[in-house]
Amino acid sequence: MESNMENSRNNRITAEEIALQYKYMEQIKELNQEYILKYGRQKLAFLQSFGCQMNENDSEKLSGMLEIMGYTQTGKLDDCDLVIFNTCCVRENAELKVYGHLGSLKALKNRKPDMIIAVCGCMMQQKDVVEHIKGKYRQVDLIFGTHNLHKFPELLNRALETDALVADVESSEGSIAEGVPIRRGQGVKAWLTIMYGCNNFCSYCIVPYVRGRERSRQIADIVNEARLLGHQGFREITLLGQNVNSYGLDLKDGSSFADLLRSLEDVEGIDRIRFMTSHPKDLSEDLILAMRDCKKVCEHLHLPVQAGSNTILQEMNRKYTREYYFGLADKIRSQIPDISLTTDIIVGYPGESDEDFKQTLDLIEKVRFDYVYTFLYSKRTGTPAAKKEDQVSEQVKKERFNALLALQNRIGKELNEPLAGKIVEVLAEGPSKNSITTLAGRTRTNKIVNFKGSPELAGRLVKVRITNAGTWSLEGSLE
Ligand code: SAH
Ligand code: SF4
Ligand code: F3S
Repeated sequence: MESNMENSRNNRITAEEIALQYKYMEQIKELNQEYILKYGRQKLAFLQSFGCQMNENDSEKLSGMLEIMGYTQTGKLDDCDLVIFNTCCVRENAELKVYGHLGSLKALKNRKPDMIIAVCGCMMQQKDVVEHIKGKYRQVDLIFGTHNLHKFPELLNRALETDALVADVESSEGSIAEGVPIRRGQGVKAWLTIMYGCNNFCSYCIVPYVRGRERSRQIADIVNEARLLGHQGFREITLLGQNVNSYGLDLKDGSSFADLLRSLEDVEGIDRIRFMTSHPKDLSEDLILAMRDCKKVCEHLHLPVQAGSNTILQEMNRKYTREYYFGLADKIRSQIPDISLTTDIIVGYPGESDEDFKQTLDLIEKVRFDYVYTFLYSKRTGTPAAKKEDQVSEQVKKERFNALLALQNRIGKELNEPLAGKIVEVLAEGPSKNSITTLAGRTRTNKIVNFKGSPELAGRLVKVRITNAGTWSLEGSLE
């Protein structure tokens, strides 16, 4: 037991280190206050996320630190004193976007030489990217990675003191920083990261290389954060991790993800609990039972299958077969009949033949997902799949993407249609995208519902009768 305790403490950033960062935040706050007295305006920061929910949750930590340091956030690049791009490298497109934005900042930096341009996040955990930025994007002042995000105040302080580039990226396996301030956007839903990193090394994926090994936060720390969220008025939490089903394995004290869900059931103020992402190979029977029994855990499971052909699944190093996946889906549905299932699919993995792709379509037809997120395979340097010679052409990838989309649109519509006339529980979130007199919310199964109602209902669970069920969203009226 003793050594286990040590184990979980060892990868935790010390309280002294975090306290030091608070000192740097105070220091910058003082500078920013002097600035207000001198120029009659607050310093402005522009922060943009390019990645997944975990990347967004990291940005919320940057926001928390910015707030303490006295920065006001702005959506206008032209006005700001500090730009932060929190990057992603899961697909090439995500990287190209960042380079595009950095390029277009050059002129602004020439006009405003005191402006600080910072880039952080997953992309920076790759050495060649940092070198490329150093060589080609001289306008950048500060580079840091995912493992040292908590050191942002210290690094910003250094960047403010020098004209030279400050670059600090730790290549460690990663650690856990508790106590970093966090500022979430307004709303009723909050992200809550429960673990960092990934051990799976799917052969196409860059995430394990840039996010380090799996490390789980302690259940008590997660429950405390959830309590705080409930207290702050959030009604729904989504627990985040690259593979939440292996939560707790590294703690070696017997904690499991199912235990965590059970521990969160009593958190006051929180009505709904969601989580992502689940790896099929680690989804335990106990978890299925916890999902069935915990009233706050919603009837939705995002369970990426990635491909339908056993050959490709094996090449991808996913460690399960299509038959195993069918069996798993059946088991889940037998315990939670109304559950909605969503998935991720990659089309055009190297060597994927027409026959392999047919197997993917067949799997989709058989499982009948409520929604499928489809990605064109993107070559990621450093991953095993990138070295393969039989890469699939862009043309074929796009054709497969379209075929899959057409099939899924049909299935999605067929699954939604029977909802017409039914009464569902909706968590009202706020005005819908298209009209201020319409509210938007989601069902427990994570489907979007638009309905007429007063904005004061935001944050409340309401009963809505579905009047129209489309492929992408539902319309309804308050009961
Ligand atoms: N940990 C999660 C999510 C990882 S990234 C999981 O295992 O499901 C989100 C999705 O991006 C993945 O599910 C996968 O479908 C997709 N993805 C990852 N690497 C990719 C690549 N090189 N090309 C295209 N899509 C990729
Ligand atoms: Fe990538 Fe696979 Fe890990 Fe998901 S489980 S992050 S796809 S390596
Ligand atoms: Fe997320 Fe992209 Fe990093 S998907 S974990 S921000 S590489």
